Amino acid sequence: MDDWQGRIDTLRERALAELEATADPDALEKWRIAYLGRRGALTEALRGLSALPTEQRPAAGAAANETKRALEAALDKHQTAARGQVLTRALENERVDVTLPGRPVSRGGLHPTTIILRQITSFFQSIGYQVVEGPEVELDKYNFEMLNIPANHPARDMWDTLYVQPPEVLMRTHTSPMQARVMESTEPPVRVIVPGRCYRYEAQDATHEWMFYQVEGLAVDQGITMADLKGTLFAFARHIFGPKVKVRFRCDYFPFVEPGVDMGISTPEIKGGDWLEILGAGMVHPRVLEMAGYDSSKYTGFAFGMGPERIAMLKYGITDIRQFYANDLRFLEQFVS
Ligand code: DAH
Repeated sequence: MDDWQGRIDTLRERALAELEATADPDALEKWRIAYLGRRGALTEALRGLSALPTEQRPAAGAAANETKRALEAALDKHQTAARGQVLTRALENERVDVTLPGRPVSRGGLHPTTIILRQITSFFQSIGYQVVEGPEVELDKYNFEMLNIPANHPARDMWDTLYVQPPEVLMRTHTSPMQARVMESTEPPVRVIVPGRCYRYEAQDATHEWMFYQVEGLAVDQGITMADLKGTLFAFARHIFGPKVKVRFRCDYFPFVEPGVDMGISTPEIKGGDWLEILGAGMVHPRVLEMAGYDSSKYTGFAFGMGPERIAMLKYGITDIRQFYANDLRFLEQFVS
């Protein structure tokens, strides 16, 4: 007699044993094809039943179908388990630890020149000055002529000039040309502060750059005296360097002022209280007033000009002006507050 029962039982045992050892979805699919696929072992076995004697067929068929269902059910269970495992593993691997601190966003900061420019302009705004700006490409007329520096005058040697279209068009060597431009276009009283870039044909070193900033100041009105100049600039020095600062004024020469001075400061916090020059100033030269169309018998004024980088260098202990515009983050990051 054909032991169909034995063959089906063996097949079932082998299939279930193999299934037990099979875990991942790919292997399960291979198992399914091997046993339940169209050419699978069980399908073959079912086909083989047709060779049995007729009276054995119903029982054998029922047994084979029952085995098929059992194998399908077992597969289904394993597939569900396998899918669960895949999901669990994925969740585990892709888990986000919400308790980790976030990555800090690196913040930008103000450039030291900007910090000082803002301190300077905000002080002067607080005492009624307007902030104005002027062109960096300037005419000889404003940069020199109207400031009482005629062509071929030896005073021109004070400014090493970069020319764009010689001899008329140049890069402004200072912010003083805005004195003439402002007076030309407005009537007294004048109170302006002019921050901006200047350019010079310089051999660079620790204290000289070919591009730098200046802040110009100009006050013109009736009855302005040297006392106004001193009082204003002393108040300014206290604003920037603190209440312990002392100032001194010494004679200096600039063609557009008479008398001309340089202002020095001394404070115990900087260089042990040494005197340090921080700006040039003076009473606006009558000829400069006249050239701009002001009546110099009616109006007087004072002007001043300073370098914000120099002030920043003193305040922050910077020793080389070339660091300002070298764009080295190690330098710039020190000013981020
Ligand atoms: N413009 C001058 C310079 O670049 C600085 C200066 C000196 C400006 C005296 C002034 C002043 O307004 O009165 O060297």
